[in-house]
Amino acid sequence: MNLPVKPKFDYIHFASIDSTNSWTKRNIALLNQNHITVITASQQTKGYGRLKRIWISSPGNIYATLFFTLPLDYSYLINLGQILALACHHVLESKGFPLQLKWPNDLLLEKKKIAGILVEVLRSEKLEIVLGIGLNVNTNEEHLKKVDQKTTSLMLFSKKTWELGSILNPILYTFYNYLRLLSSSGFTHFQPIYQRLLAFQDREIVCQVGNQKIQGICHSINPDGTLNLQLPSGSMICLNAAEISTS
Ligand code: BTN
Repeated sequence: MNLPVKPKFDYIHFASIDSTNSWTKRNIALLNQNHITVITASQQTKGYGRLKRIWISSPGNIYATLFFTLPLDYSYLINLGQILALACHHVLESKGFPLQLKWPNDLLLEKKKIAGILVEVLRSEKLEIVLGIGLNVNTNEEHLKKVDQKTTSLMLFSKKTWELGSILNPILYTFYNYLRLLSSSGFTHFQPIYQRLLAFQDREIVCQVGNQKIQGICHSINPDGTLNLQLPSGSMICLNAAEISTS
């Protein structure tokens, strides 16, 4: 993918759709392979997250999918969700939200989940990247009660409602700049900031890797974005994908 200095986004918006990720996967043939297409919806009827969990998608929040292609030999696939999380952090920190990152790419505010990122990769003659983000912006407590984990929204923290474009647009431009940097120089540049924002640092966590649950101490982030987990024996293992929970 050729990434000019000035980004070129195509936008598609739905008042309501099953899922912006599902729509994108069904309609890849319609999308310009040389741009980044941003597919958004005001609400989703079948939004989903990692491990096929339901992503409740009532109006007032950001539901967006970024579609773009990358070469088949692209080296930094595992970092795409991480740089989107970092882009969100960059924008939201400037608006007064102290976020943390739950490895690999969840965003937490006051230890509660505020955004989730889902990276789906399809392979044809290029890698087709379907990068979805759900960010709780104006959801109230009533809606959040329907979710089976601790969640919050920007509105609950800041006591004001937010115009979605004023959040999403700077995230898209920051993501684009980060994608250029990642593609030219890898994740090394991002590692120190990711390390600083890492949630559960030095705490005991459980990592679900496939069907296996591995317990250990959340130790550190490597320059390639993988996680170092210290096992009870003291030895260190390096994970490149897992679902983290605290025991
Ligand atoms: C997770 O934390 O499990 C990831 C959640 C990703 C949700 C977003 S909302 C926009 C896009 N469309 C979907 O159906 N899922 C992603």
